[in-house]
Amino acid sequence: MNILVALHNLLRWVLLILLLASIVKSLSGLNGKKALSAGDKKIWLFTMISAHTQFLVGLILLLFGRFGMFTASLPEGTSVMKDSFYRFFWVEHTTMMLIAIVLITIGRGQAKKSIPDAVKYKKAFWFFLIALIVILAAIPWPFREAVSRPWFPSL
Ligand code: HEM
Repeated sequence: MNILVALHNLLRWVLLILLLASIVKSLSGLNGKKALSAGDKKIWLFTMISAHTQFLVGLILLLFGRFGMFTASLPEGTSVMKDSFYRFFWVEHTTMMLIAIVLITIGRGQAKKSIPDAVKYKKAFWFFLIALIVILAAIPWPFREAVSRPWFPSL
């Protein structure tokens, strides 16, 4: 399981970098002068794939990880919503990341629509940007009290 936590930790950086690249690429197409390029489509696709992979790894951790729903038990005398640690990982982190991954999927889906390329870029830009904000808000950063996790995998 440790290896999956490490993977989940590391993949966060891959996803953040790809998502940033996707945003920059969509931004550059916003002025309507650029046709949607194969390279841009590829970056959008890789962003979506890394988001989906992160979801799968996260789901395994959520169910069977060290704080998993089937493998860990809540401290005595509390409930999920009362315990800020479990509420974060079981509810907040999971829900917000799920929303972000759906937004990334919709953003990437713009590439396949039959709408003008400028509109594809514009819509994708907003979906990716909101996803990025949600992800940044839901990561258990080292400076977040109660749920703090390292910047990089600690094996
Ligand atoms: C954009 C997607 C996501 C990002 C960027 C992300 C990021 C992270 C990071 C950085 C950690 C800390 C890892 C560590 O301790 O080194 C973490 C932990 C965790 N994440 Fe995610 N996550 C994402 C999606 C999800 C999803 C969708 C789920 C559930 C379905 C999930 C469930 C968990 C769980 C249960 C942990 C705690 C693992 C443990 O310490 O045993 N994550 N996540």
